[in-house]
Amino acid sequence: MHEELKALLAQMPDEQRVRIAGRDFWVGHLHGQPVVAVLSRIGKVAAAVTATMLLERFAVRGIVFSGVAGGLAPGVNVGDVVVATELLQHDMDASPLFPKYEVPLMGLSRFATDAAISDSLVAVAEEALRDPVALVGQGAVDEFGLRSPKVHRGLLVSGDRFVSTAAESDALRRQLPDALAVEMEGAAVAQVCHDYGVPFAAMRTISDRADDEAHGDFARFVAEVASRYSLALVGAWLARQPAT
Ligand code: ADE
Repeated sequence: MHEELKALLAQMPDEQRVRIAGRDFWVGHLHGQPVVAVLSRIGKVAAAVTATMLLERFAVRGIVFSGVAGGLAPGVNVGDVVVATELLQHDMDASPLFPKYEVPLMGLSRFATDAAISDSLVAVAEEALRDPVALVGQGAVDEFGLRSPKVHRGLLVSGDRFVSTAAESDALRRQLPDALAVEMEGAAVAQVCHDYGVPFAAMRTISDRADDEAHGDFARFVAEVASRYSLALVGAWLARQPAT
């Protein structure tokens, strides 16, 4: 989201804008590491194009996706963090030609993330979430009820729908009982990274429960919570990387 990118850019001392295909790619350094920061845009196609540009035009060595998601599994609550171990497109269905969820001609429905990057994201998230007041301030903790936010790891599902009814999230829970959370881009970027053989990881802040209240305070949550989580977690993860 814009607010998350803005927070990251404020920490980049030397970013240069490169505009391609209507997207602004910000090339520079964050915590001493060379990075390209960009908004994926919303939806699977937009995110796949952005990922392809990162790989083709900037030759990035890996992609780390941060953003927000709707919690699906019981206990995945607003203010928690989900680090994906695998991603699936919940709206992919070419049955009966191919099994439901399988990406035709790939023989795959679930795309695994890079284990080392994901482990490292879990570690920095657990550390940061120990003190939510330090992370987002007392005001946001009270406003969004972030008492003891948790880190979850597992399946993240993506589709071109903002899931905003209990009926739809119930259906997703029934069909994909191990899905932790739903969003609109991750599995597409995972597929592109798989094609290129480049490591991919995704971490999402839970902004809603993908139910009838999902659109509630979305903008405020992104500005006050998710952007601070992204900054802290991406920053802490980069700071742990060996100097290049
Ligand atoms: N991103 C954040 N919340 C979401 C939801 N409920 N559905 C899809 N994407 C989301």
